[in-house]
Amino acid sequence: MAVNDDKLKKVIAHAKEYGFIFPSSEIYDGLSATYDYGQNGVELKNNIKQYWWYSMVHLHENIMGLDSAIFMHPTTWKASGHVDAFNDPLIDNKDSKKRYRADVLIEEHIEKIRGKISKEVGKAAKRFGESFDEAQFISTNPRVVKYHEDIKAIELRFKNSMEANDLEEVRQIIIDLEIADPISGTKNWTDVRQFNLMFSTELGSVSGESSKIYLRPETAQGTYVNFLNVMKSGRMKPPFGIGQIGKAFRNEIIARQFIFRMREFEQMEMQFFVPPGEEMKWYEYWKEQRLNWHKALGFNPERYRVHDHVKLAHYANAACDIEFDFPMGFKELEGIHSRTDFDLKQHEEFSKKKLQYFDPEINESYVPYVIETSIGLDRMFLAVISSAFKEETLEDGSSRKVMSIPPALAPYKVAVMPLTKKDGLPEKARAIIDDLKFDFSCQYDEKDTIGKRYRRQDAIGTPYSVTVDHQSLEDNTVTIRDRDTMEQERVAISDLHEIIEKKVSLKSLLQA
Ligand code: GAP
Repeated sequence: MAVNDDKLKKVIAHAKEYGFIFPSSEIYDGLSATYDYGQNGVELKNNIKQYWWYSMVHLHENIMGLDSAIFMHPTTWKASGHVDAFNDPLIDNKDSKKRYRADVLIEEHIEKIRGKISKEVGKAAKRFGESFDEAQFISTNPRVVKYHEDIKAIELRFKNSMEANDLEEVRQIIIDLEIADPISGTKNWTDVRQFNLMFSTELGSVSGESSKIYLRPETAQGTYVNFLNVMKSGRMKPPFGIGQIGKAFRNEIIARQFIFRMREFEQMEMQFFVPPGEEMKWYEYWKEQRLNWHKALGFNPERYRVHDHVKLAHYANAACDIEFDFPMGFKELEGIHSRTDFDLKQHEEFSKKKLQYFDPEINESYVPYVIETSIGLDRMFLAVISSAFKEETLEDGSSRKVMSIPPALAPYKVAVMPLTKKDGLPEKARAIIDDLKFDFSCQYDEKDTIGKRYRRQDAIGTPYSVTVDHQSLEDNTVTIRDRDTMEQERVAISDLHEIIEKKVSLKSLLQA
C-alpha cells in the first residue's frame, strides 16, 4: 500500500510539473477535488475523447452523437429518480470527525479479504511449483473457501440492507466487521445517513422551490429526453445508440484520490436502444467491445478486471464495472448497465409524451430497452498516466522519467529540434514542422542541451524526437529518436511523415 501511495504521489507531482494537471484556483489555495488540465493534459484528454468518439460514434453506423445541455428541466431528475434516490450512505467517525461512505468502508473490507486470498494463492503457487492447479486450490483450500464464503455473506447482507433502506443494519455491518477508521483507528461510529449528491442552483433571479434546477449528475438523462428527436431526425430504428461526452457534477462528500473522484468531471456515455428481449445479447456485446477498447491501448491486460454487480439498481437487470488497477488498487473505471425500459418509461409518465418506436414489421409500438456504457474521462486519464509513468535507470547510471503514453493518445507526436541555434538549423527545423503540423501535433524546442530536450519530451510522452544537424543541411536527413527504446536512426526528411504516421495513427489503435 505504501508503495502504491508513493506511486500516486509521484504521478500527481509529475502531472503538475509537466503541465498535465493543476489544482484548480491554486493561487487561492485550491478548491478540494477540483482540478484544471494544463497544456499537455488538455491534449491528452482531447485524444482520449477522440479515441472514444471514433470508436463508438464514427465506427458504428447505428450510433449517433449528441451534446445536450447541462441544465435540464427539473422534472427530469424527479422522473429519473435522482431527486429521491441519488444518495450516498454516509457515516462519521466520532473521534477523527472524518466522514466516510458506508458502502466504501465495506467494499474496502472485502478488498482486504480478497488480498488474503491472493496471498494464499501466491504462497501455494510457490510451494507446489509447476504442478500447481490454481482452480483446484481455490475450490478446496479450507481457508480460501472460508474467505470466499465470508465475502458472499457480507455482500448479501449489505445488498439486503440497502434494498430495505435499513441504515441501522448498514451501521451494524460496519460494527460487526470491526471496521476501524483509518485515521483515528477507532470503531466509534455515528449513525448512517443518506446524502443527496446533486448540486442545485436557482434559475433566473427569483429564488424558491419552483426555480430550483440541478447541475446534471450524468449525461444519460440528456440522451433519454432526446431519444425521439435523434431517432426521428436520424431515421434510426432499434438497435441504435446515442453517444455523448460532457460534464457531470456530483457533490461527492468524500472526494479523494486526485482526479479519481471529483465534484466536476466528464463522462463519455453511450445509450443503446434495443427491442425488449434483446437486452442481454447486447449487454454481453458491449461488455466485450468496451473491454477490447481498453485492452487495445496495450497496457498489461492483468490491470483490468470485470466486477459483476451483486446489488443491482432498481432499474437494472444486469450491470458490471470494468475495474482498473489504479495506484490505489482495483477501482471502477467504466460501468456497463442494462437499464431496461425504466428511464424512457419514467420520462413518458412524467412528461405525458410517448417515447416509443413504432415497428412496422410487427405493427406495434414499444418502449426500447437500454444498454448503457459509461466511462469517466478523468478516470480514464488517470488510468493512462498512472500506467504510462515510469522512472528508469539507464545503462550509464543516469535516470529518466518517461510517460509511455500510447502514441495515438500522446499530447505531442513529434518534437523537432535544431542541434544548435545557429547556421540555419532553426530555419530547417521550422520548415519540417511547417510540413508536419497539419497532420501531427508538433513541438519546436531549441533550448538547453539535446540530452535535456530529449528528457523533457520523454517526460510528456512524445513518441518521436527529430534532430536537425549540419548534415541535414547537406543531404536532407535527420535523426529520429524513439521515446521508448531511445534508439536513433538517420532518415530522409521526406520519409518522416510515413514513419510517424505508422506509429501514432489513431487508425491503428481503432483497428487493433
Ligand atoms: N449514467 C450512469 C452513471 O453515471 P456511474 O457509475 O454513476 O453511472 C459512470 O458513473 C462513470 O462515471 C464511472 O464509472 C466513473 O468512471 C465516472 N464517475 C462517476 N463519478 C465520478 C466522480 N465523482 N469523479 C470522476 N469520475 C466519476
